[in-house]
Amino acid sequence: MVLSPVLEPPSPSFSPSLPIPLHPPESELKTPLLRTRKAQLHDAGAIHHLIDSFTHDNTLLSRSYAEICDNIHTFTIVETSSGQFIGCAALHVYGQHLAEIRSIVVDPKTQKTGAGSLLVRTLLDQAEARRIKCVCLFTRIPAFFQHFYFRVVERQTLPDKVRKDCIHCTRRNACDEIAMAIGELPDSLLASNFYPSRRHADLVQLQL
Ligand SMILES: CC(C)(COP(=O)(O)OP(=O)(O)OC[C@H]1O[C@@H](n2cnc3c(N)ncnc32)[C@H](O)[C@@H]1OP(=O)(O)O)[C@@H](O)C(=O)NCCC(=O)NCCS
Repeated sequence: MVLSPVLEPPSPSFSPSLPIPLHPPESELKTPLLRTRKAQLHDAGAIHHLIDSFTHDNTLLSRSYAEICDNIHTFTIVETSSGQFIGCAALHVYGQHLAEIRSIVVDPKTQKTGAGSLLVRTLLDQAEARRIKCVCLFTRIPAFFQHFYFRVVERQTLPDKVRKDCIHCTRRNACDEIAMAIGELPDSLLASNFYPSRRHADLVQLQL
């Protein structure tokens, strides 16, 4: 299954039935010598250091070293051909209906050379390979993600994300992040199945 845009695409020539070009030719990449790979435990220190350097101004959500180690399997890193770490991103899977791109960051010395794009495309490929129907993210830089056909959505359409992070966030009443998604937005009933709700508790009582 190919992830298709949530809303109408910007280009009149684009058709939602066309596959999103997740694999541009090498020549189209600004830095063809960059590569991605799944993170290993030995990458956790570099990942933590880079994410931490972007948390002081709330650009990124803080992730502890222990949390990164615990979730290392969700991270992908981008590195040079000589193996120098330059960036990372994580794909958090809520279920087949939804995954989220988190903690995407590239070393400032290497930004604007295509590494961020490579990370996004790699994570979208991972989601597609797992037949995940929708990929979401919360961001303050929607212009970057619009390059990959992410569209702005109402945050209420992503209850998994809201329940996982937003309700615990100190900035939840003054949040300036924009919710974006690509693919088929989750059915709200399906999403709520992942968290016990009052309605489901009532249903269980009726069965008893
Ligand atoms: C966002 C980030 C990962 C992008 O990585 P990058 O390697 O610089 O991105 P690329 O070089 O692949 O850029 C791809 C395109 O996006 C544009 N772009 C890059 N950063 C952008 C930004 N902050 N806002 C808008 N557009 C941006 C580039 O100009 C480029 O456009 P072009 O192809 O028309 O020239 C990087 O800027 C970063 O680490 N920022 C700090 C952490 C952060 O904000 N993460 C996002 C949290 S949701």
